[in-house]
Amino acid sequence: MKKICVVGLGYIGIPTAVMFASKGHEVIGVDIRENVINSLNNLQLPIEEKGLEKLFLKHPFKAKLQPVDADIYIICVGTPTDTHKKVNLTAVKSAASSLIPYIKKGTLVIIESTIPPGTTKDIVLPLVEQSGFKAGKDFYLVHSPERVIPGNMLFELANNDRIMGGISSIGAILSKELYECFVNGQIYTTTATTAETAKLMENTFRNVNIALANEVATICEKLQINAWEVIELANKHPRVNILQPGPGVGGHCIPVDPWFIVEKTPDQATLIKQALEQNEMVPIKLVSKIYDITKSKKGLKICLLGCTYKANTDDIRESPTFVIEAELTKDNQVVLYDPNVSDYANGSLYDACSGCDMVILLVNHQQFLNIDYLKLASVMKSCVIFDCKNFLEKEKAIKNGFDYYLIGDGSINK
Ligand SMILES: NC(=O)c1ccc[n+]([C@@H]2O[C@H](COP(=O)([O-])OP(=O)(O)OC[C@H]3O[C@@H](n4cnc5c(N)ncnc54)[C@H](O)[C@@H]3O)[C@@H](O)[C@H]2O)c1
Repeated sequence: MKKICVVGLGYIGIPTAVMFASKGHEVIGVDIRENVINSLNNLQLPIEEKGLEKLFLKHPFKAKLQPVDADIYIICVGTPTDTHKKVNLTAVKSAASSLIPYIKKGTLVIIESTIPPGTTKDIVLPLVEQSGFKAGKDFYLVHSPERVIPGNMLFELANNDRIMGGISSIGAILSKELYECFVNGQIYTTTATTAETAKLMENTFRNVNIALANEVATICEKLQINAWEVIELANKHPRVNILQPGPGVGGHCIPVDPWFIVEKTPDQATLIKQALEQNEMVPIKLVSKIYDITKSKKGLKICLLGCTYKANTDDIRESPTFVIEAELTKDNQVVLYDPNVSDYANGSLYDACSGCDMVILLVNHQQFLNIDYLKLASVMKSCVIFDCKNFLEKEKAIKNGFDYYLIGDGSINK
């Protein structure tokens, strides 16, 4: 059994630390946030994740503000972008620097954080080599990107395939052997730069395909046909799988990570940059569709249903709802309602829509199925619905007197 120090105890670091602890390794968690350390040492998890609390209480680990002597270090700190869409590697650099006093012959350093191509080799390696030890010869340096989805992390940690990208092949093999204690999926070994790029291409694939789906929606609106039917029929082709249109891309990965590729290779990543920029414009363009519906009338009271970036979560990071809210509030009164997010869960959906001229569905939470349209009609000032997820019961809404508009079906222009 190894002594493992997990540096960065957020959404990724904590479940990773718990998985290793559950397999009998001695795990120490490190974070710069004192409240996180105190909470973990008091056996309280600072994050919500299905099944995690039970596993943590069975296999708790000690948390500290500074690294300790260990066999293996796993860096799981955040990698946001700044206002100019450039990656901010401050946390990665400071986490790597904090390990310098602890590097010795045979130490394994693994970076799980999502980082631009070349970061392990060109930025982390020279920092850690300030210890006086050589990577690939004395210690091992590896990038092992994480691809779990929040809400199902424990299952995906155990069952997803993984990539180990080593500065040396022996480092990649040592990491593979380590993760095999809880990973049932395949573990592939490669170079660090290939692993970094593969991870970024996963989220880039999603971003580009979402941009395509949203473009199909605007094309079909222009053609006055239904994009949902076009996509359904096109997807009958055995090798086609167009995604669904919506109000924009959110979350901290899909709209962020592809910028790391653009930053590194701007002259090559032209399609990727265009997809990112097009996706960023989707919520803004949606507001002009709203004004198409209202025939440019302003001063309205509008309810936005759903504040998260995806259905059935409470995660509001980078959610397009707030972009739409900011645009609409310039000229209207806007009410936000989301039963999954405590700040926006006041009262019922009917309370939120009371006196509204229009309701706009932005997130397909389960709670928005089976709306009582008769009741909704009785509380609203005007019965207008704009469904941006093709999720609501159109026939019921129309039967109860609503004007129903669907993103991408050309109905707005008719
Ligand atoms: N959350 C996800 O679903 C997900 C999925 C795949 C990949 N990732 C990637 O994993 C990485 C971590 O993401 P996260 O969501 O866990 O971030 P997070 O913000 O939840 O956690 C990062 C933690 O690192 C700590 N930290 C910062 N600097 C530190 C330092 N020098 N020493 C010790 N701790 C430090 C912070 O205090 C914070 O607790 C990111 O690169 C992210 O892109 C995240």
